[in-house]
Amino acid sequence: MKILLLGKNGQVGWELQRALAPLGELTALDRQGYEGFCGDLADLDGLRNTIRQLKPDVLINAAAYTAVDKAESEAEQAHTINALAAGLLAEETEALDAWLVHYSTDYVFNGSGEKPWSEIDATAPLSVYGTTKLQGEQLIQASHCKHLIFRTSWVFGARGNNFAKTMLRLAKERDSLNVINDQIGSPTGAELLADVTAHALRVAVQRPEVSGLYHLVAKGTVSWFDYARLVLDFAEKSGVALKVPADAVTPILTSQFPTPAQRPLNSRMNANKLESTFDLSLPSWQSGLLRMLNEITL
Ligand SMILES: NC(=O)c1ccc[n+]([C@@H]2O[C@H](COP(=O)([O-])OP(=O)(O)OC[C@H]3O[C@@H](n4cnc5c(N)ncnc54)[C@H](OP(=O)(O)O)[C@@H]3O)[C@@H](O)[C@H]2O)c1
Repeated sequence: MKILLLGKNGQVGWELQRALAPLGELTALDRQGYEGFCGDLADLDGLRNTIRQLKPDVLINAAAYTAVDKAESEAEQAHTINALAAGLLAEETEALDAWLVHYSTDYVFNGSGEKPWSEIDATAPLSVYGTTKLQGEQLIQASHCKHLIFRTSWVFGARGNNFAKTMLRLAKERDSLNVINDQIGSPTGAELLADVTAHALRVAVQRPEVSGLYHLVAKGTVSWFDYARLVLDFAEKSGVALKVPADAVTPILTSQFPTPAQRPLNSRMNANKLESTFDLSLPSWQSGLLRMLNEITL
């Protein structure tokens, strides 16, 4: 099986390089490309030529415009990378009769209520990032290529930047730390995303009828505030000197911390469809997080 991975150095892309390696012949690209192959999602012609040259059986897109607040002022660039490039990947995948794997986000929802969102719930993104990610999903679905779209949330990984690492840094540097307590979601490890992707792909190549959209998040939910406290508690117990210990973090409301992009309050997601289709039992968010905290230099 020939696999082309885009976005190889992002949190998820990095873990995919490991998880996909045993599945076949892997070509992994980042934005800079390699040996004349284009991996830049903003260069649609270059991307098209590269796919036509490589003719992969599976195309995995782990690249995205992920700067949620910056996207509010760079809407066109976010649209090209998250929507138009996804549409192009779908067109080319369809022409090759290949598989496309793509990742999307809880930010396609407006965050109302407290019920976990399922795949059939109405979308209503609040931000440019969420809107462009939804457009990407829709272009893939409209193309009728064989696809797996995984909507996930609150991604963390040992490599790359994420909330857990930011909290660790701020708790060492600052005298106080305010963290939002009314946004609820599921922190999900890049390792888990990569391992589930590899498993689902093995199933999909045997059973093309599983093509579709799936919610893929770790089990359990938490607020950013309680998530931060768990991270700092772990750091303290590991002997890290913090200026703001876990019990000194202050909970605040989203309304007290205005940002350019609006974020959903309810990011709970129901992953039952994924678990039943691929015969999986997703682990708790804490297990993946503790694993990552044990791996990184605190
Ligand atoms: N992070 C989250 O909390 C989260 C939540 C829900 C869904 N997701 C989705 O999960 C997927 C993976 O996210 P992640 O957490 O791994 O993101 P990430 O760590 O921010 O990685 C994104 C990667 O995309 C690359 N990229 C950006 N613009 C590009 C371009 N024009 N051409 C090629 N590559 C480009 C970045 O490269 P550079 O380093 O060169 O910019 C980076 O390596 C994305 O689809 C994202 O929307 C993420």
